Amino acid sequence: MKIAVLPGDGIGTEIIAEAVKVLKTLDLKLELETAPVGGAAYEAAGHPLPESTLKLAKESDAILFGAVGDWKYDKLERALRPEQAILGLRKAMGLFANFRPAICYEQLTHASSLKPELVAGLDILIIRELTGDIYFGQPRGRRTAPDGHFPGAEEAFDTMRYSRPEIERIARVAFEAARKRSKRVTSVDKSNVLETFQLWKDVVTEVHKDYQDVALDHMYVDNAAMQLVKAPKAFDVIVTGNMFGDILSDEASMLTGSIGMLPSASLNDKKQGLYEPSHGSAPDIAGKGVANPLATILSAAMMLRFSLNQAEAADRIEAAVKKVLAQGLRTPDIYSEGTTKVGTVQMGDAVVKALG
Ligand code: IPM
Ligand code: MG
Repeated sequence: MKIAVLPGDGIGTEIIAEAVKVLKTLDLKLELETAPVGGAAYEAAGHPLPESTLKLAKESDAILFGAVGDWKYDKLERALRPEQAILGLRKAMGLFANFRPAICYEQLTHASSLKPELVAGLDILIIRELTGDIYFGQPRGRRTAPDGHFPGAEEAFDTMRYSRPEIERIARVAFEAARKRSKRVTSVDKSNVLETFQLWKDVVTEVHKDYQDVALDHMYVDNAAMQLVKAPKAFDVIVTGNMFGDILSDEASMLTGSIGMLPSASLNDKKQGLYEPSHGSAPDIAGKGVANPLATILSAAMMLRFSLNQAEAADRIEAAVKKVLAQGLRTPDIYSEGTTKVGTVQMGDAVVKALG
């Protein structure tokens, strides 16, 4: 089983080191190969997603990805910015199905900014379509406005679009996932305003005919944003487009206390997957040894489960993470009084130890 390890920028290298340490503790035949990506790759090879990195990713069964991005690259032309590495990987490998669970761990109930009773036991799954929508829709660009309120003025535009097959396949992923959970899907759209999301709603409704054992409801994205902080436990599986999913998944992550706890998986139709923490590269705390490695360690567990058929090893990692939380170990992002503050490496070491 071949794994491409792409640490990236900022805290990426620190958190990936801990996840690799955990993987190496397990008695599995894993071949790990590291390559540069993001700003680090731009520095090393002049491009955020060098040919050699993309080739390695394509040849691997799974990709363990850290994070990319740093403000210092904001002035580069868009095609050379670190974010293009993750967008390029998603597109080039067809990683259309993004799983972002938001789970509130018992010990972290009080780390949430919401009242404990609202989030205790929270376990929702956001399924975000990842290769379409306004993120990739053409045409896009800058031009002189041909019409509109200010003809002749400089303007910029992006295109929101979804095709029927794109919506169908992500809807199926969501219904299948719901079947393994509490059999409820909320499809989030903006069909009251956007053509794209009227088609979205129509297609999801049609696909649902094949999944009558799963309950489906539809919600506008603004209302969904509100309901997520009002009564988050009312949700089970949320399925939505790329743009809305980007926003709602960050919102949902905060319900759990810290984005530093949340893994994610992005899969294609060959079950190849890219696994990364839901958080970014956090350049403000990079190199300080304080980043929470648990989201990345949990992403490695998802990788073992979804792409490598090693459910038992995944269970072991997840149990070990619960154990270190029960021991009271906390990185600063999840620290509260009465617990023990630890750094990135100590947290990784503790998980290794808890694996037994
Ligand atoms: C995410 C990130 C990315 C996105 C960025 C880094 C391009 O915010 O994975 O949610 O917008 O998809
Ligand atoms: Mg995001």
